[in-house]
Amino acid sequence: MWGISQLLAAALICLLVWQFLKLRWASRELPPGPIPLPLIGSVWRLDLKFNQETFTKLAKSYGKIFTMWLGHRPMIVLNGFDAVKEALVTNSEDMTGRPMTPFVDDTMKGKGILFATGHIWKQQRRFSLMVLRNLGMGRKGLEYRIQQEAWHLIDFFSNEKGKPMSPSFPIFYSVSNVISAVVFGHRFSYDDEKFKEMIMGVDFMFHFMPSPFRIAYDLFPSLMRLLPGSHKKAIFCVEVGHKFIREEIRSHEKTRDPIDPQDFIDYYLEQIEKTKDDPISTFDYENLVHVTTDFFAAGTETTSVTLLWALLYMVAYPDIQEKIHKELQDVLPPFHKICYEDRKRLPYTNAVIHEVQRIANVLLVGSFRECQKDITLQGFHIKKGSIIIPDVASVLYDPEHWETPRQFNPNHFLDKDGNFFCKEAFMPFGVGHRICLGERLAKTELFIFFTSLMQTFKFQFPEGAKVNIEPKVGGLAMVPQPYNICAIPY
Ligand code: HEM
Repeated sequence: MWGISQLLAAALICLLVWQFLKLRWASRELPPGPIPLPLIGSVWRLDLKFNQETFTKLAKSYGKIFTMWLGHRPMIVLNGFDAVKEALVTNSEDMTGRPMTPFVDDTMKGKGILFATGHIWKQQRRFSLMVLRNLGMGRKGLEYRIQQEAWHLIDFFSNEKGKPMSPSFPIFYSVSNVISAVVFGHRFSYDDEKFKEMIMGVDFMFHFMPSPFRIAYDLFPSLMRLLPGSHKKAIFCVEVGHKFIREEIRSHEKTRDPIDPQDFIDYYLEQIEKTKDDPISTFDYENLVHVTTDFFAAGTETTSVTLLWALLYMVAYPDIQEKIHKELQDVLPPFHKICYEDRKRLPYTNAVIHEVQRIANVLLVGSFRECQKDITLQGFHIKKGSIIIPDVASVLYDPEHWETPRQFNPNHFLDKDGNFFCKEAFMPFGVGHRICLGERLAKTELFIFFTSLMQTFKFQFPEGAKVNIEPKVGGLAMVPQPYNICAIPY
């Protein structure tokens, strides 16, 4: 006679076998990929240290389009320029969904832009782009704010008097202050504790989103909601950010002039007022909180980390740093205030910034999409609702499009006469209808911050310190190892 534990074990084995067969059956219609196992899917096939090579290695075994299972949910990975372009450019309209996972659902609730889909996404995105343009994105107004912030950053660096310092805090602060100027209409001083807490929260989320705790939350949400762990801290960070933004909104309500909106929140509050009787309007307080959060979440870490990489590459390649200094000296008059237009007469500096973005590839695999219709990709039938992972790293390092894909080489963006040019395979901001909403703002920030710093300082490592350009591994983000640097007045 079998005991209760043997019966339970037999039932469990039957259940696992049944699940395994179900997964095999479901895999039949999908692109090939590692065999999915019950509960964990094909996560077992990922390297413990996930990096920009992981998917490319799998593509060598399974092809340019393959299936990875997260638990019992299939995800289609696209590798290389042709596959990513076919999905995000040729089928752009059908690729505008963002997959909802338990963690995203619990924290973002399908609101805002970054994690929204369908009508909410369309309305919020279109309106936000319009307001950003009104506020001067791509024009002088916003550029002036960035120049001011660059000046604060230079001041911070100058005060260190060439001593070793960590550039990460002042850079994060300056970049966050640009977003603050856009959405709140003002900047925060370096010692504002509440603002600091919010920035730290954004930083924490950037590292948490691709972490094992986040994956565990999405696989076993009911269990994880009960357990302690970094997911609890992540939820707390989101709440802190929302609280901070709600306070700003309340103070705007008291002071705003409806005829003369000054910042994003002013415009949005006016839009809520204007559309309050429209039954299909999605303009409300909650969406305002989430859109504002999205600007900070999507716009601060990405830009700051790119700048951190840029300074690190300058130290790693002193000859390239010297060439930039020479170009700036030859072209710009003394005490010239850098503006975005200057990029046209500084092709080498512009090429270096693009090359930093290409090689640093701060969002390791790009952002996930959800198919809105049945489509055909690379000859495979992909069903509506499928999750798509465009492996942007594989495009930025695609050997068919870059001469020395793994090597830092500004010539990737220069023609034989030294003129700047950009390739289609340069897509750190994504492509298609969901391309980064802040692309123009980010490009202006990167150019003005980086060029202003290079105009003022020569960067080098403290004596005896070794340059390490290996990224910190452990998530889907490519972040440099923490470092100290000396900013020597130039
Ligand atoms: C170097 C800096 C930046 C990089 C590399 C970057 C990259 C990206 C990428 C890859 C996406 C996803 C696109 C896709 O789904 O295919 C994205 C989305 C987004 N970015 Fe950026 N971004 C940067 C800066 C900014 C800034 C400064 C803002 C501020 C407004 C911003 C706001 C957004 C928003 C709101 C989205 C969501 C767009 C949507 O889902 O429709 N980003 N970004």
